[in-house]
Amino acid sequence: QGIPTSEAHRPQFHFSPKAHWMNDPNGMVYYKGTYHLFFQYYPDGMTWGPMHWGHTTSTDLVHWQEQPIALYPDSLGYIFSGSVVVDVNNTSGLGKNGQTPLVAIFTHHNPKLEKAKTDKHEYQSLAYSLDEGKTWTKYAGNPVLPNPGITDFRDPKVRWYESQKKWVMTLATKDRVTFYSSPNLKEWTKESEFGKEVGAHGGVWECPDLFPLDHKGKKAWVLLVSINPGGPNGGSATQYFVGDFDGKTFKPYSTKTKWVDYGTDNYAGVTFANTGNRTLFMGWMSNWQYAGVVPTSPWRSATTVPRELGLKEVGNELCLISMPVKELNALNGQRVALKNPTAKTPFDLPAQSKTRSFKLDIATSNSSDFSMTLANEQGNELIFGYDKTANAYFIDRSKSGKIDFEKGFGKRHIAPRSSSSTTMTLTILVDVASIEMFADDGLTVMTDIFFPESDLTKLFISSAKGGSSAPVVSYTPLLSTVE
Ligand code: FRU
Repeated sequence: QGIPTSEAHRPQFHFSPKAHWMNDPNGMVYYKGTYHLFFQYYPDGMTWGPMHWGHTTSTDLVHWQEQPIALYPDSLGYIFSGSVVVDVNNTSGLGKNGQTPLVAIFTHHNPKLEKAKTDKHEYQSLAYSLDEGKTWTKYAGNPVLPNPGITDFRDPKVRWYESQKKWVMTLATKDRVTFYSSPNLKEWTKESEFGKEVGAHGGVWECPDLFPLDHKGKKAWVLLVSINPGGPNGGSATQYFVGDFDGKTFKPYSTKTKWVDYGTDNYAGVTFANTGNRTLFMGWMSNWQYAGVVPTSPWRSATTVPRELGLKEVGNELCLISMPVKELNALNGQRVALKNPTAKTPFDLPAQSKTRSFKLDIATSNSSDFSMTLANEQGNELIFGYDKTANAYFIDRSKSGKIDFEKGFGKRHIAPRSSSSTTMTLTILVDVASIEMFADDGLTVMTDIFFPESDLTKLFISSAKGGSSAPVVSYTPLLSTVE
């Protein structure tokens, strides 16, 4: 996609814009063989500014091709987060001559009204595409959902609710989610609210998503809610609830707070529309605590890898599982078992492999402690591993290189296991400046970014028991998808 692989900290297999500022993924949709990812984008600077929808496409969820900007700010405001639906039945009437419209439902954020403190500066609007997502026209009747007087009124995620033949919008409304419904995407009726009394409330609720997942032949509904701040390791993070939805009301099975990702760097993630019986998720791999000051140039931020979501029962709780999509296996180089994993020496990696982008598959048969280090000549170290006593795994980025751009950045983060199995498995993806850890087949996940002063090309076990207690580690180099 015309991006030099040599740029310091440039991800090699994650999407990052060629230049300038990006935050939330928006309007993710699969249509006629193409995955579309739109994103909060400021094309004139390296920090957050008047929001546009950037656009990138992929046919395999692995290689991304950046496209022209899809939506520009207008007299109604900046273009904040939202979703895209395929209006198969042309309920909106926006399709002409039998064409199927793709319809974007997004928040207009009006800076003038914000200044005037009317509390009514965010409202929902439409845009549509009749050329499979290439170009977009704003709907002349915008906004379609005016603001009733709620300061934070944004991030509409819309899906078709087949049994009642209507659209359902899940909207972030300050400290709760509000559900609306519509026959035609243009007229919206309030159905219910959820969450004022439950869940984590360390910060404002943003970017919700509601979708069904199958569990042993039964449908359960998952509600994702991003909050900022208030995440388990500080700053921005995404919680989830599992429950029933009847087209009107969401009823959680449990009010225990659960997190989509325990790391600091997976925010505002939602699912793709129109992917059949697969549910695919991507998040923004950063955190509002420091997103605007991270030491990358000429771009800021990347997305997480696409992840496939499912449900698993643990005790009497239904939990979300997420794992990297299988399409990423196309990047796998030659897998090697790492020898002598208890030695305090770098692994003897195959000469051709570059440690900056790779996958590790780790299994500990009796779940004993270990820690691994990724390092460079300058002495930068990213340390990650498993602490048996805490039954938690961790990422320590306190010595990982550049950390002083923000005082809370250089810390050790932990994620609990929620499996009681004696064998722990970890799938770990490292891509130059990010690490994504998937424990117990995705029952809990931790994603962190880091900024070494030069590439971390040494990998070693910094501590582990020997013999049969040693972790079994295999290493797979991952090919780059940028030039
Ligand atoms: C989440 C968010 C959204 C909003 C967008 C603005 O990161 O704050 O609530 O729509 O970013 O860029």
